[in-house]
Amino acid sequence: MSELATKSVTNPPVATIASLAAHVGDTVTLRGWLYNMRQSGKLLFPIFRDGTGTIQGIVPKAAVSEEVFERVKSLTQESSVIVTGSVRADARAPSGFELDVANLEIVHLVPASDPFPISHKEHGTDFLMEHRHLWMRTPRQSAILRIRATIMRAAQEYFDTNGFVRTDPPILTPAACEGTSTLFELDYFGDPAFLTQSGQLYIEATALALGKVYSFGPTFRAEKSKTRRHLTEFWMIEPEVAFMDLEGDMQLAEAFLTHIVTTVLARHRADLKVIGRDIAKLEAVIAPATPSPVVILTLNEVKGKNPRISPEAPQTPNASPSNIEAVILNEVKDPDEARPATTAGTFSTTDPGAPPIAPSAMGGLFPRLSYDEAHQMLERAFAEGKLEAPHIYGDDLGSPDETYISSQFDKPVMIHRYPAASKAFYMQPDPADPTKALCVDVLAPEGYGEIIGGSQRVDSYDLLRARILEHNLPLAAFEWYLDLRRYGSVPHSGFGMGIERAVAWICGLDHVRETIPFPRTLNRIYP
Ligand code: 4AD
Ligand code: MG
Repeated sequence: MSELATKSVTNPPVATIASLAAHVGDTVTLRGWLYNMRQSGKLLFPIFRDGTGTIQGIVPKAAVSEEVFERVKSLTQESSVIVTGSVRADARAPSGFELDVANLEIVHLVPASDPFPISHKEHGTDFLMEHRHLWMRTPRQSAILRIRATIMRAAQEYFDTNGFVRTDPPILTPAACEGTSTLFELDYFGDPAFLTQSGQLYIEATALALGKVYSFGPTFRAEKSKTRRHLTEFWMIEPEVAFMDLEGDMQLAEAFLTHIVTTVLARHRADLKVIGRDIAKLEAVIAPATPSPVVILTLNEVKGKNPRISPEAPQTPNASPSNIEAVILNEVKDPDEARPATTAGTFSTTDPGAPPIAPSAMGGLFPRLSYDEAHQMLERAFAEGKLEAPHIYGDDLGSPDETYISSQFDKPVMIHRYPAASKAFYMQPDPADPTKALCVDVLAPEGYGEIIGGSQRVDSYDLLRARILEHNLPLAAFEWYLDLRRYGSVPHSGFGMGIERAVAWICGLDHVRETIPFPRTLNRIYP
C-alpha cells in the first residue's frame, strides 16, 4: 500500500458510514468497498459500502487531481478502497448524507476480466444461494443480517434483565425431544447419537435447579419439507420457568416479543427502509390495545372459569367464528386488569428478588384463540373458498391454516390448547379437558405463521412414564428426565422461538433462507 493510503488510515480519523451523522462538515476516512458507480459527464458518483451502511460519493473532475479522478473511474464493483472526503448532509440522499471525495486509495482492484458475479441486474434464487458468501454484501442482505443480530441480542437481553440464568444444553444427545422423524443421527464412538432438536428437556433440569433459565443455540431437524419456513439447522432461544403455568408462559411470550419488536424499531429504522419493510405493520404489534382490547376468549373462559371475564360479559357457550368478535370482554380500560399477573395456579417466578414478568411492560395484548376456535375459523374460511383444503379436526395446523389465521390479525395470535394427540409427549393435559394439551403456538401476523411453540410440561411421574412408553421412546434414555418428576417435581413451562422465523417476519421476507448467513435446507449445504 502506498504511503498515502497508510496516512489516510490514521489521519483523518476512520469513521463508519452509520456514524456519519456525528461528522457532518468533517473530513473523514471510510474503509469499505465500491458497491456501484454512476458517471455523468465530468462527475463520478461512486456508492461505497462498509458493512454499516452505504453512502454516495461525489467526484467532480475539477475538484480532485487527474490521478484521483482516474483511479475512482477505474473502480470495479466490490473493489476495496480507503476513501477520504468531507461529509455533507443531503436530505435527498437515501442515507441522508453524501461524501465529497478528496482522495481514494485502492486496496484491491477486482479485475475487469473476472468481475464480481452478482451484478445490479436481477439474479435467480439458485444463483444467489450458490453465491451466498458474496450475496450477503448487498445492502438488503447486510441490513437483514444486522437486524438478525439485534433480534438475537434483544432476545437474550430480555431474559438476562428479567432474572433468567442462561444454561447451555448439549448439542450431541442420546434421544429425541421433538419426535423421532426429524433426527440427524451420527456415530458417537460406536453408539448412535443425535443432533439436538431443542434444548428443552435439558433446560427443564436446569430450571428445577435455578428457577428461571434459558438456552440459546443451534438446533437441527432433518426436515424433508421444502417450505419457506423450514431450515435443517436453525437457532432457537428457549426459556423455561419452574412454578409457571401456561397462562404465565403466554404472558412471557407476549412480553418477550414486544421487547424484541420495540428494540428493532428503536435501532433499525434505516435498515428496515432498505429492506422495504412496512414499518406501520411492526408498530401495530406493539401499539397499546387500549381503550378496549379485543380479547378472544376460550370456551371455558366464556363459561365463566376465567377471572378475566366479568359477570356482565356476554355468555356465549358456543363461540363460533361468526361471533368471535362478539365474545369480547367488557371494555377494559387498563390492560393490566385484563391479564392479571397471576391467576389461580400461576406462579410467574420462583425468585422473589427478580423483577416480575410485568404485563405493564407490554405494549398491547395479543389476541388468543383456542384450538377449537381456530378450527372453526378455518372451517368457515374453507366454506367461503378462502382455503384450498379443509382443516381436519384433531390435526395440528398446516402451513396454509397458519397462514390464513395469522393473516387475520395485526398482532401475533396465540393459539392454545391443541389436541394432545397432535402434540409432543411432554405436554401437560388440560385438567378441564384432558384430550387437550396446555400448549401454545404463537403465530406471527401477516400470514407468517408459527414463530413460537411452548407448553406447560407434564409434572407427574406416572403420567410422563406412560407417555414415553406410548410414544415408543426408549425409557432408559429418559430415566434422567423422569428423575425431574421423582425429586421435587413442580409445574413448569417454557417455549422455544426460532430466530430465523422471527427474522423473516420482522423483516417481512418471503423465505427463511435470507435470515441466516449460511442457510441449511433439504437440498443445500453449500457454501
Ligand atoms: O414448536 P417447536 O418444535 O417446539 C420445540 O422445539 C419445543 N421443545 C420448544 C420449547 O417448548 N422449549 O419449535 C419451536 C420453534 C418453532 O416455533 C419455530 O419458530 C422454530 O422453533 N422451528 C423452526 N425454524 C426453522 N426451521 C425449522 N425446521 C423449524 N422447526 C421449528
Ligand atoms: Mg411447533
